[in-house]
Amino acid sequence: MLDEHHFRPRRILAAHGPVRWAGALAVIAVLAHAASVTAQTGPSGPKHLGVASCASSVCHGKSTAQPPGHVPLNEYRTWFNDDRHAQAYHALESAQSRQIAAKLGLPNAMQDICLNCHSDNVPKPLQGAKFQIRDGVSCEVCHGASEKWIETHAQKGATHGANVAQGLYPSEQPTKRAELCLSCHLGTRDRFATHEIMGAGHPRLFFELGTFTVDQPAHFKVTDYYLSRKGKIDTMNLWVTGQIEDAERYLTLVQSPLFTAGGIVPELTFYDCNACHHPKEKMRWSAAHAGAGVKPGTLRLQKQAFVMLQAMLDALATPDAAAQLNGATDALVRAGGSDVPSVRAASQRVLDQLHGLDGWTKRVYSSSDIGKVRKTLLRYAAEDKASDYSTAEQVVLGVQTLSYALNDSAGHQDTFKALFASLGTGADFNAAQFAETAKHAGTQF
Ligand code: HEC
Ligand code: HEC
Ligand code: HEC
Ligand code: HEC
Repeated sequence: MLDEHHFRPRRILAAHGPVRWAGALAVIAVLAHAASVTAQTGPSGPKHLGVASCASSVCHGKSTAQPPGHVPLNEYRTWFNDDRHAQAYHALESAQSRQIAAKLGLPNAMQDICLNCHSDNVPKPLQGAKFQIRDGVSCEVCHGASEKWIETHAQKGATHGANVAQGLYPSEQPTKRAELCLSCHLGTRDRFATHEIMGAGHPRLFFELGTFTVDQPAHFKVTDYYLSRKGKIDTMNLWVTGQIEDAERYLTLVQSPLFTAGGIVPELTFYDCNACHHPKEKMRWSAAHAGAGVKPGTLRLQKQAFVMLQAMLDALATPDAAAQLNGATDALVRAGGSDVPSVRAASQRVLDQLHGLDGWTKRVYSSSDIGKVRKTLLRYAAEDKASDYSTAEQVVLGVQTLSYALNDSAGHQDTFKALFASLGTGADFNAAQFAETAKHAGTQF
């Protein structure tokens, strides 16, 4: 039995201290993502053989990383010892989960609505002999069912392309990786942490691809050998891709029946949590961050990913392109306070604009480009355009990720600390103080 100490309270890790940007990541994958998808369409497809099939000491369970020129092969150790995904099933046995389940009227949390994100919840016929649901978010959740490739993937002459053709998930590709992570860290139509689940005590979800890749922590090493097999992916491309995928998925979910499942009250998780969840004595509304034509006291849809992409366009495209996205975002937020058809139409207009940005995921960014985006994020924050908590949080995570991309993060640790500190916990977030801190931070870069 694992006791509660194993569930290290690292939540919002990122939001409460600079991330360990370990050496791993100059680089950087929804499968028949099997969990709910297969559950719905009926069990067919290759089997999930289970962690025990990957973890032997001659495979991915070595005690130390192999020297450069090899795959590290200690991935299982890193995952088991340091990765919260290994604890994700056990988290459903915790006191917090028992409370959540009780409030939802469930006998316990070992139910599909939880297991779909907290384990490799594939139907029985797809579970191999060594498969264990208790392994949590395990290797095959991210790397795909291994039945077809486990024997061949490490043979001499096996290429990454050939493995992918056998069903290995291409998690090195930023778009594929973002889709994979967001399938749980934001949700899909089939698995979603609704406001009912949040109201029962589930933590708020947030995501940023660069930060979360490092924080997992990464169990791969970007060596010449890695690059020769998988190619180079710059951190900036990870950040941009994460924002675009997050924005597109959010809009697709807003357009789905999830948005209206509650009747007269829309699904509240699509709205800015802290707009409702803060003491009314601490007033923070301003026209600058609410957006054009958004009146005080109205519900505001979340817009953090759109604001990040506006900043990118502002810095690297034309002010017109940024203004266009800004206009479409404000129209969406206004629609979010009116009626469902307006929300659907306004979200489609934003989606159409985002589709035009696909090329930005693969673009080559110069240091000067990345520096300009970082500066613009801090300028938006200083100008009070990033004062919804989730937007402020993305500014801070973004500044840190882009500093990593620029390889100058070591000299800015104090600035990151100040920015993280000014985020607080959400309920105590002080928008004016955040803007001040961001203004000062802007002078440091
Ligand atoms: C099947 C669902 C699922 C997928 C896919 C998934 N995660 Fe997670 N992730 C979780 C769950 C559940 C937790 C919380 C586990 C716990 O604390 O018990 C988590 C926790 C984390 C944490 C720790 C967060 C914190 O606050 O400490 C990081 C970092 C993370 N995931 C990164 C990633 C990345 C990067 C990807 C994609 C490569 C990814 N996750 C894919 C379900 C998933
Ligand atoms: C859409 C996917 C999703 C669903 C559905 C979901 N969770 Fe989670 N859960 C997550 C992710 C992702 C995290 C990690 C959040 C973070 O730290 O960023 C998490 C974190 C948690 C935590 C905190 C874990 C820790 O180590 O602090 C608990 C407890 C939890 N979930 C319980 C549940 C229960 C109980 C259910 C079912 C009622 C459930 N979850 C449904 C994705 C999900
Ligand atoms: C939450 C998602 C996630 C889980 C769970 C996960 N991985 Fe990974 N893994 C990744 C990502 C992302 C990468 C980096 C991109 C890539 O190379 O595909 C990666 C890379 C790897 C690599 C490539 C190393 C290289 O040099 O090419 C191996 C091997 C690997 N993982 C093995 C495992 C094993 C074994 C487990 C289970 C013990 C596991 N992974 C669990 C996401 C995950
Ligand atoms: C429109 C306002 C609104 C938004 C937006 C909103 N909530 Fe709530 N939330 C409520 C209300 C109303 C309750 C019920 C409070 C009660 O019963 O006392 C609640 C309850 C909760 C609770 C339980 C509080 C308690 O004391 O039991 C949590 C946790 C929570 N919400 C989290 C969130 C998160 C996370 C988000 C964003 C993803 C969010 N909420 C968005 C209005 C909102």
